[in-house]
Amino acid sequence: MALQLLCRPDSNISQSELLVLPFWEGGGFAAECSRWKESFGGALASGDFKAKANETLLLYVKQGRILLLGLGKKEGVNGEALRRAYAAAVRTAQAKKVKQIHLLLPEVVLKERNTLLRAVAEGVLLTNYAFLHLRGESLKDNPVVLLEEAVFLGLDQDDETKLKKWQTIAAGVHLVRELVNGNADDVTPEKLAETAKGLEKRTRGLKATVLEKKQLEKEKMGLLLAVSRGSLKEPRLITLSYKGNPTSDDHVVLVGKGVTYDTGGLSLKPTESMLTMKCDMAGAATALATVQTAAALRLAVNVTAVAPATENAIDGESYKVGDVYRAKNGKTVEITNTDAEGRLILADALSYAVEHLKPSLLIDLASLTGAIVVALGEDLSGVFCDHDPLVKELIAASETVGEPLWRMPLVQDYKEMLKSDIADMVNSAGRTASAITAALFLQEFCGSVPWAHIDFAGSCFLTKPKHTNTTKATGFGVRLLIEFLERRRA
Ligand code: BES
Ligand code: MN
Ligand code: ZN
Repeated sequence: MALQLLCRPDSNISQSELLVLPFWEGGGFAAECSRWKESFGGALASGDFKAKANETLLLYVKQGRILLLGLGKKEGVNGEALRRAYAAAVRTAQAKKVKQIHLLLPEVVLKERNTLLRAVAEGVLLTNYAFLHLRGESLKDNPVVLLEEAVFLGLDQDDETKLKKWQTIAAGVHLVRELVNGNADDVTPEKLAETAKGLEKRTRGLKATVLEKKQLEKEKMGLLLAVSRGSLKEPRLITLSYKGNPTSDDHVVLVGKGVTYDTGGLSLKPTESMLTMKCDMAGAATALATVQTAAALRLAVNVTAVAPATENAIDGESYKVGDVYRAKNGKTVEITNTDAEGRLILADALSYAVEHLKPSLLIDLASLTGAIVVALGEDLSGVFCDHDPLVKELIAASETVGEPLWRMPLVQDYKEMLKSDIADMVNSAGRTASAITAALFLQEFCGSVPWAHIDFAGSCFLTKPKHTNTTKATGFGVRLLIEFLERRRA
């Protein structure tokens, strides 16, 4: 059942399964809640609850349950701090199998009231997610209970409209999480294509197209075809378009890596590295979900997702280390490592976009390199871009929504490392600066179109859930790209 978000002027404890009251560290109500003081005053006086960031204390009082929620120090509080605190409240609700909560928002301490509302709403919406399909029998004894109703106290009808918008965006994030958490055996190239077709049916203004193997051959997408050869599943090239500004030529194209499972191919990965490789289609999922969300919000922008989808499997037909394959744009590539497959399928997809879609700009999203995880960890994604205005817009959008991007250098001299004796380039230059050389490889396929590359290998799939992420799959990128598209329209 979908979560209902309601705005009410006030409430009684007895109307709520869980009433959430916010506090600043070092004392002080973060909101006017003196009317409930009789119920929580003792707990506060005991000193057990310090209101540190994300601290919670659950109280059982005569009329029901109250959750004291710590927001941390008032000075320097920001959207992300609020998202995390309200995420902690929702996790408590989940643990107690509560279906309905009432929330008091902190007094406005942020410059913009909207930022505050959005942060609290997203803290709730993003955290109210569980991945249920593969739980099996244990679900019966220990069912996951998600919220069905969240009542925001002290807000009005106008606010309710805004909440709906953020709910639509959160639904996009949840779609990515479903696809990325899903079994690689289920989320195949064909399934991704069906998903795009399903989105086209459900959302007005979307157009999906799917190229199958024969058409990919016609399009001479030799690199995508090479990567797919070791798999029993045929590759697809999926596009999902939304034209929200038909009188404009502006066209943002999002290219997402859709490796539905990455064994490494003949350059086989060790087991520990393979363990998380169902996440390797997160770029494709993010691109598709972003376009669907843009359509659902009726944004006045033209945006298309292009998702090359394949497995990188191992088989007698696998593409080979040392052999040379021809890209869609005619360049030849010597394969020095079959595990550097993402850049190959993206290269053909970027060429496809340049040739057929008249992009004003290209943004690719990919779980592309282990090196970016070593460099930035799981909190930040790397962004590579040689077009200053574009990267500035992306970083500004990322800061607004709390999905941090860190700019990485496109060191042109390192193109040397991609030289081959027998072909135009190699696909892998080894370990040195490998996130950078991967980006430089992609750059060769963008023509003169402004391009940014987001490597989110660390932040698309976490080692373990945290903050608003209740599962390993995060859905990182949807909120950032929607914010980017909205600013572009403005
Ligand atoms: N899908 C991986 C990158 C990855 C690593 C994603 C960790 C998520 C978590 C990618 O296809 C890959 O294997 N990259 C290689 C490239 C190397 C062979 C140049 C890597 O980073 O090791
Ligand atoms: Mn790989
Ligand atoms: Zn990969």
